[in-house]
Amino acid sequence: MFESNTGGSGSGLDPKRIASLTESQQEIYRNRTGASAAEYQRAVKVMPGGVPSSFQMMDPWPVYLTEGKGSQVWDVDGNQYTDFHAGFGVMVIGHANPMIGEAVKARIDQSTHFAAPTNDSIVVAEELKRRFGLPHWRFINSGTEATMDAVHLARGATGRDMILKVEGSYHGHHDAVMVSVAPPLDQIGTRENPIAVPYGEGTPRALTDLTHTVPFNNIDALKAVLGKIGDQVAGMIIEPAMMNINIIPPKDGYLEAVRELTAQYGIKLIFDEVKTGATMSHGGATGYYGVTPDMITLAKATCGGYPGGSIGMSDEVAQLVEDDRVKQYGTFNGNPLVMAAAEAALTKVLTEEAYVELNEKNEYLKGRCQEIIDKYGLPAYTEGIGAKGCVIFSPERIYEYRDYAEYVDAELSTLGWLYHMNHGIFMTPGVEEEWTLSVAHSQADLDNYAGAFEAFAQDVTA
Ligand SMILES: Cc1ncc(COP(=O)(O)O)c(C=O)c1O
Repeated sequence: MFESNTGGSGSGLDPKRIASLTESQQEIYRNRTGASAAEYQRAVKVMPGGVPSSFQMMDPWPVYLTEGKGSQVWDVDGNQYTDFHAGFGVMVIGHANPMIGEAVKARIDQSTHFAAPTNDSIVVAEELKRRFGLPHWRFINSGTEATMDAVHLARGATGRDMILKVEGSYHGHHDAVMVSVAPPLDQIGTRENPIAVPYGEGTPRALTDLTHTVPFNNIDALKAVLGKIGDQVAGMIIEPAMMNINIIPPKDGYLEAVRELTAQYGIKLIFDEVKTGATMSHGGATGYYGVTPDMITLAKATCGGYPGGSIGMSDEVAQLVEDDRVKQYGTFNGNPLVMAAAEAALTKVLTEEAYVELNEKNEYLKGRCQEIIDKYGLPAYTEGIGAKGCVIFSPERIYEYRDYAEYVDAELSTLGWLYHMNHGIFMTPGVEEEWTLSVAHSQADLDNYAGAFEAFAQDVTA
């Protein structure tokens, strides 16, 4: 998905074998997906890359889906897959969940949009307060909007312009955060003196220059950067557990130290929980790690498969919105269909017990994959929390983007993805993503995943 320079450090496996397996698996993929190829030929004439969002682009073409039910999805060729992609980590509730369906159907008959508040929005805000601890909530329509508003609020609260972000984190596609998402290692300077690199074209250099970067899990590097510019930084935005370069949890004490340092410099701390929020635990990463930021951004799995999100705020930050000093706007904010889906998702499906079960399933799947890694001596390890997990194709444990770019093996990761797709496991393309489990995944689904992974492990080590 993201272009990065990950090439791996050499897996110790036979590169010719990996190349020839990749070729044969690509051939199988092409043969299985003829109807998708036809859709692609038509789509590419009217949508760049044949897709609605560039994250859906895939070589040689994407799989076009028709239907999903529970843990299963079907494509236009009639192939059935067990879904571990989950719409980039959204469908923790499972496809076509009847509890979400009923809530939304009931709303549809009472009209789909007012741009006036409804009771559901109050219930959802109360539930988010209960789960995440921050006292005030506003709604938006995507993760990008959530982090964009949070950046505005940090600037409004402090009267400062600079933003600090972590190298390798993706926070959506607005100017302030399209920086050092997947930068080439030879352009990013040292850990203590990192250089921010624009991600893609179209952002004025003057805006990119307002965003500074730090490596994850490195308090000394953060101290060094803050020592230089700390009094000019409005907000620090951070994924409390990184989930866009595989999964990297924070080291013990890291988030606490980030909290302390940002408070010391008067910097607003934003936890971007767009990915972790409704997947890691009932209270997201904030609840899991017990560190409270000034703002939390949510989207993805929080809205039951509908396009929505929210921003949690401290009393001080919320006052800026209350006074309309920072403009927190949007025609579709708190849309009744989205709120009905979010309410059903948060109060009926993704309960505290649901997270206990998701975690058990995740431990099981990670355990199965780790057994396979050990049995075949693969240069890899497993990582994950709650509904999120992955196999990381790196001989070394990774702690930040620079490790990821140096050690994670792109060829092996891509071949693993092809094996999954060709064995009926629908997975996110690319090197950096992870699986997302849903309440609908069964033991057999998890065993199917492990089966596909074992077929891959056997072939690459044969
Ligand atoms: C951590 C994080 N923040 C923000 C976003 C942007 O969310 P959206 O795609 O809904 O705009 C993403 C998307 O993947 C994300 O992973």
